[in-house]
Amino acid sequence: MSEPIRVLVTGAAGQIAYSLLYSIGNGSVFGKDQPIILVLLDITPMMGVLDGVLMELQDCALPLLKDVIATDKEDVAFKDLDVAILVGSMPRREGMERKDLLKANVKIFKSQGAALDKYAKKSVKNKTWKFVEGLPINDFSREKMDLTAKELTEEKESAFEFLSSA
Ligand SMILES: NC(=O)c1ccc[n+]([C@@H]2O[C@H](COP(=O)([O-])OP(=O)(O)OC[C@H]3O[C@@H](n4cnc5c(N)ncnc54)[C@H](O)[C@@H]3O)[C@@H](O)[C@H]2O)c1
Repeated sequence: MSEPIRVLVTGAAGQIAYSLLYSIGNGSVFGKDQPIILVLLDITPMMGVLDGVLMELQDCALPLLKDVIATDKEDVAFKDLDVAILVGSMPRREGMERKDLLKANVKIFKSQGAALDKYAKKSVKNKTWKFVEGLPINDFSREKMDLTAKELTEEKESAFEFLSSA
């Protein structure tokens, strides 16, 4: 069996992360022969919830899961990473436009981008983007992905604008 890879999930106390973590830990994402050290990052007020998530993962006793680390510190979370899955961000609140949301979240991603650059293994930097291939995509998923791609293209300019002023 190969060496464990270190996989970070941010926003690990949130809903999307909750549905991702088990699939990562059981080998569905990185393969049934790939041991994993799972690193969970969230903000300080969520540490109680994150401890619960950590205990649930421990209860699952997944053989590939060699360790689970829960933290609210970026230097701990991003250290020596092989893979970073950046889910954590501020959700859109009532009355908020997407532009307001982008403005709030750009600070988070700017800070995490810097941490990635400073602490992670060189291989996770943007030189080696990898896309997951071979998954079946039905018409419903295709339509959602196309809509998301359109939205992302429209938001790209605003994000660059906010990044340079953050
Ligand atoms: N759930 C959905 O269907 C859905 C759909 C589209 C977009 N989104 C967006 O995706 C993101 C995650 O969704 P979710 O449903 O898991 O939201 P969530 O609110 O359940 O979880 C987000 C988590 O991110 C954490 N977080 C905030 N700032 C952070 C930081 N600086 N570092 C690390 N963690 C941080 C929060 O504390 C929270 O635990 C949100 O921005 C949400 O708006 C969600």
